[in-house]
Amino acid sequence: MSLVAEIEALEVATLARVEGLSSDEALEHLRVEVLGRKGALTAILRGLKDVPAGDRPAIGERANAAKRAIEERIEAALAAARAVAESSRLASEVVDVTLPARGWPRGRRHPLLRTMEEAIDIFERMGFEVVESPEIEDDEHNFEALNFPDDHPARDMQDTFLLEDGRLLRTHCTPSQVHVMRARKPPLAVITPGPTYRRDDLDLTHAPMFHQIDCFLVDEQVSFADLKGFLTEFLTAFFGDVAVRFRASFFPFVEPGAEVDIGCALCRGKDAACRVCRGEGWLEILGAGMIHPNVLRAVGYDPEKVSGFAFGLGVERLAMLRHAIDDIRLFTENDLRFLRQF
Ligand code: DAH
Repeated sequence: MSLVAEIEALEVATLARVEGLSSDEALEHLRVEVLGRKGALTAILRGLKDVPAGDRPAIGERANAAKRAIEERIEAALAAARAVAESSRLASEVVDVTLPARGWPRGRRHPLLRTMEEAIDIFERMGFEVVESPEIEDDEHNFEALNFPDDHPARDMQDTFLLEDGRLLRTHCTPSQVHVMRARKPPLAVITPGPTYRRDDLDLTHAPMFHQIDCFLVDEQVSFADLKGFLTEFLTAFFGDVAVRFRASFFPFVEPGAEVDIGCALCRGKDAACRVCRGEGWLEILGAGMIHPNVLRAVGYDPEKVSGFAFGLGVERLAMLRHAIDDIRLFTENDLRFLRQF
């Protein structure tokens, strides 16, 4: 067979093989097998040396033509193979935008924590500093330094969780005042938020663990008028436009002492069966007063030189009044239907 015939036969056979191939690898493999340095065409052209020199250019040209034809056909087949692969990939990756969304459940902060943060935010804007204080206390900080007489009923084991070593879980946030005042000198403007504990059974309005924010300001010549102005400012910032009422009351660590009420926002005192204020028209919201001289002395201050006001509020109570929640147990039951409302 002449070289030209061999070349033509190879071309025809190769073009026929291309038709049967549809994968990248197979086509590349064929290209190398036929046109590569050790390929079939090269092998045929090795016979050129036995051909008269005058015939060689024509054979070379025929070989080049065959090479181009094969390359073109392989390129076309490769392009077709890639197009098929691409469209099947697209088909398999199709997103059905009509499927219902799965949703992305987001957590949210607990209503108590939010109430606490909101109150703290207002105090901070008024120049108060947040200080945390221990939840485990001794009798001295929780009662003695706060001017509780030895026979005060709050010292009774009924009310206080006692630890085996004689210490106790603080029954209110007020011992934090003792810690802060002993560690620093006036002027002081501090709030101390945190959990407190009492041996109360869980019912609509009582819980063995609840939260308070104590707030106090000590400086020269602080007066009850400062307390009133400041508290009214805070309550208005927190509740909006509310009526505020001060009633004389007693706490061992203040003199004079007061309880502070806000007007019932639900019935405005007009509904005798109101489920929030029970027809009273007023809701007790916090205890307050001027820090007792005995307390100032117990922390090493001179009551002739400095005075201070203090108050303590219940965070659960704030949250309940704010959102008309009538059962304190809801805060700890972790019922998502309740928690999701906030
Ligand atoms: N510690 C009091 C309680 O738990 C609340 C309180 C009353 C705090 C008067 C104060 C205050 O700082 O001045 O019931």
